Amino acid sequence: MPRAFSISADSIAKERSRVGDDLEKFDVSRVIALDELTLREMGPNDVQLRILAVSAEHNVDHAALADTMNIAEARGGKIYPGNSALGEVVGVGDLVKNVAVGDIVATHCNGEPDIYGYALRIWAYDQPDSIGWYGEEAMVGDWQVVKVPLDCGLNLWEMAALPLRAPTAYHLWRRAIGIFRVKVSREQRARINVLGFGGGVSELFLMLAHHEGHRALFCSGSKERREHLEGLGIESIDQNQFNRFAERDDVKAFNKHVKALTGGEGAHVVCDMLRGAVYPAGIAALGRQGVNVSAGWQLGMNVKHNSANLSVRQITLDHIHYETLDGVSAATELYGRVFKPTVHKEIYAFEDLPRAMEEMHQNSQTGIPIVRVAGDMPDSVKSLIP
Ligand SMILES: NC(=O)c1ccc[n+]([C@@H]2O[C@H](COP(=O)([O-])OP(=O)(O)OC[C@H]3O[C@@H](n4cnc5c(N)ncnc54)[C@H](OP(=O)(O)O)[C@@H]3O)[C@@H](O)[C@H]2O)c1
Repeated sequence: MPRAFSISADSIAKERSRVGDDLEKFDVSRVIALDELTLREMGPNDVQLRILAVSAEHNVDHAALADTMNIAEARGGKIYPGNSALGEVVGVGDLVKNVAVGDIVATHCNGEPDIYGYALRIWAYDQPDSIGWYGEEAMVGDWQVVKVPLDCGLNLWEMAALPLRAPTAYHLWRRAIGIFRVKVSREQRARINVLGFGGGVSELFLMLAHHEGHRALFCSGSKERREHLEGLGIESIDQNQFNRFAERDDVKAFNKHVKALTGGEGAHVVCDMLRGAVYPAGIAALGRQGVNVSAGWQLGMNVKHNSANLSVRQITLDHIHYETLDGVSAATELYGRVFKPTVHKEIYAFEDLPRAMEEMHQNSQTGIPIVRVAGDMPDSVKSLIP
């Protein structure tokens, strides 16, 4: 039986009781446990995967903390998490046409598309009966995998950083620029100021903006991440310089700084995946007609704004969930050409996945955390392992 990680409602309850419900003291690694899995029988449209590498994702963190909702409990007491993986196709059903045995593919996290193609639910999270890919093997539908461009110039770990984050960034960007263009034409302002706050999704968002000729500004507390983006031509702002926006005066100073950098105009687009203290800073730094986009709430779920103030400034707040299947394929085409992610310096062994999740939770990593699942890699990717 393949090994796979699971999160159970019992282990969440045990950890919550250990720390007296204080999420500051919660240790995610105590909740994610190595387990076993029986794969379902292959159907005509199914693809069997051997998982090569996965990236640690915050929805797993949210599932372990049960802070957004207790998803393990809601799903009957246990989930198998993980919805960002690279795998080798080891078997296909009779009707599968998009991939063949030997292909290297990426997964995505769309659980069930709505009538417009957007995710109603997320795979390995709230999609009923969905089994995730933090395991050695998986059985998936053919619609859940996209061939990765192995010749894109990225190494295997960099590619493994992208299956979930790249489509999210792609969707955020097309929404943000589309909304801004409803208000301000290209003739009026061709090159806009785009600001993103620390994190893998924001980094990729800024790479898209920069690639399209816009001015991209990355505000992060991580020196390693700032340096990586500077190497790609993206300007950086040290978030620690503004005390991580702990006080109103820090937000004011940050706003002043952004306005000074942008000739008084401010940011036309802000990507804020974190909320919490970052949210007011992002709103303050927006210029007239600005757009604030988000698909995350890592530091806080609830936000407040002054409707009159945002109306007068013509500010738009946009919330997204996830890209369509077509958008996922489009984002995959941009691996290496546009998306050049930062990867954390340690590549974790499979057994160390819980520690990778806890270190992500602690924000002590230097880039996107990658876990190597397969010991023996297929020949097609051997040269892509640094
Ligand atoms: N809807 C979707 O499809 C989707 C997809 C991916 C992610 N998300 C959500 O988006 C959020 C970010 O995900 P990600 O993958 O981009 O994260 P990530 O790569 O792990 O980065 C997280 C960032 O959080 C920042 N951070 C941590 N503690 C902070 C604090 N106290 N103050 C300010 N910044 C802090 C860090 O910024 P510094 O560099 O400044 O330290 C870090 O770079 C998560 O909530 C995740 O669930 C949603």
